[in-house]
Amino acid sequence: MSSDSTVATLNKPQHIAIIMDGNGRWAEQNKVSRSKGHETGGKTVQRVIDLCIEKEIPWLTLYAFSTENWGRSKLEVNYLMNMLAKFLEERLPELMEKNVRLHAIGELDMLPAKCRKRLKHCLEATAGNTALNAVLALSYGSRQEITAAARKLAEKVQRGELAPADITPELLGNHLYTAGMPDPDLLIRTSGEMRISNYLLWQISYAEIWVTDVLWPDFGRAELDAALQDFSSRNRRFGKR
Ligand code: IPE
Ligand code: IPE
Ligand code: MG
Repeated sequence: MSSDSTVATLNKPQHIAIIMDGNGRWAEQNKVSRSKGHETGGKTVQRVIDLCIEKEIPWLTLYAFSTENWGRSKLEVNYLMNMLAKFLEERLPELMEKNVRLHAIGELDMLPAKCRKRLKHCLEATAGNTALNAVLALSYGSRQEITAAARKLAEKVQRGELAPADITPELLGNHLYTAGMPDPDLLIRTSGEMRISNYLLWQISYAEIWVTDVLWPDFGRAELDAALQDFSSRNRRFGKR
């Protein structure tokens, strides 16, 4: 018989994807500006990276900014982009020290030049790190991602490099931003909304979903432990009986 800790180890997710929601509601509840809510949410990002390293979870994908989030006020979008640039600049030494490899998925060309430049630098600098793969979803939308993949495949067919009959789920998957990454097996959403908000629609086909009412700035060890505990007790059937 396995001990509880062995069970937890055996049933540990290999890839956690998180919809980091609730910075605005946290700000309202605490009577501070939305910016302060986002800033506090930024601190949670570092906390969760540290927890995943400690728990030896190899992949973590964070929904930091969606395609639809471009529709927020200019003030908020600017604040979030400046925060991203600052995060990439200030956190690089810590990511190096903790052996974290950074990845990014999304329409990265849409990001301001300052963010693109710092992102490129961080991706290159951390490319050899192995403790945790931390994926930032930036200007990310799943429908846009799948559409872009379909377009690339159509171009290959048009050039005569590919026959339509050769298009398989694996091939389509290899044309997504997430090519080469394992699918998330646990999807966490904070702040209680029961929706996916255009996040990793293809990749979460068989992910276990865990939603907490806790707002992202307040998310920490207790919530991650509860999610992992719940995950370890799920019966993942993958359509089989
Ligand atoms: C999540 O918090 C951060 C981003 C989407 C960038 P929100 O800003 O969506 O917070 P709520 O949903 O308004 O509480
Ligand atoms: C999803 O949160 C996007 C991110 C966490 C970056 P939103 O707050 O944008 O999603 P909706 O509006 O509740 O669907
Ligand atoms: Mg929200």
